[in-house]
Amino acid sequence: MLSVKNISKCFGDLEVLKGISFDIHKGEKIAILGPSGSGKSTILRCINQLETYDSGEIDYMGKSVDSGQALHQLRQHIGMVFQRFNVFTHMSVLQNVIEAPVHVKKVPKQEAVTRAKELLKMVGLEGREDAMAKNLSGGQQQRVAIARAMAMDPEVILFDEPTSALDPELVGEVLNVIRKVAAEGVSMVIVTHEMNFAREVADRILFMEDGVIVEDASPEEFFEHPKNERIRQFIRKVEER
Ligand SMILES: Nc1ncnc2c1ncn2[C@@H]1O[C@H](COP(=O)(O)OP(=O)(O)OP(=O)(O)O)[C@@H](O)[C@H]1O
Ligand SMILES: [Mg+2]
Repeated sequence: MLSVKNISKCFGDLEVLKGISFDIHKGEKIAILGPSGSGKSTILRCINQLETYDSGEIDYMGKSVDSGQALHQLRQHIGMVFQRFNVFTHMSVLQNVIEAPVHVKKVPKQEAVTRAKELLKMVGLEGREDAMAKNLSGGQQQRVAIARAMAMDPEVILFDEPTSALDPELVGEVLNVIRKVAAEGVSMVIVTHEMNFAREVADRILFMEDGVIVEDASPEEFFEHPKNERIRQFIRKVEER
């Protein structure tokens, strides 16, 4: 469905992506792990076209997103959830969720509201439709962000460390919501340091280091038979936190 082909990117003299390639199949869940600064956020931002790249290609449904049409398709079918809650704080919970369907997809408002209410129920915020987003806890805001991404009926959602800015007791509630999204069959790419979660939810683990994917393996292979000492160390260090 999505094909990342040999993407390279520099920030000035710093080469942060050195030829990244992988495919995302329909319904597939991919976890990207790796140390800080290895390029995880940058590759998500390139996939989402929030960031330009110097070389390589991203294909959506077999067509390069360099072509306007495929880009338009991708934009309609991709959602992103960031580490810091990207909700519109000056809007109500409901307004947050209907904003893009109504203004970008031109979904009739009543239809968008009905769907938003279903999604808010899914993320455990039933009855909070009229609350102002700024008055919610971090975990609640992150659940609104997930409902908002789902409201566009995406084929794929990119999550960039969706729980790392949360108080520990709020992490579980957000992970539960992501499990539900996974169960809906949406493809996901999730950058996370939650090892147990990655192992449970992902079909594949990519390990990035210095702008390169150094391992692309099943969770079992990745955790049970780490390819090298570096990966073994990483798993140990993150699990000790
Ligand atoms: N806009 C930018 N301008 C200059 N350098 C940048 C920019 N964005 C990222 N970088 C650099 O690119 C490298 C990769 O950054 P990136 O944010 O992708 O890493 P990451 O793997 O997501 O790290 P973390 O786990 O800390 O989020 C880092 O060295 C970072 O400093
Ligand atoms: Mg990052």
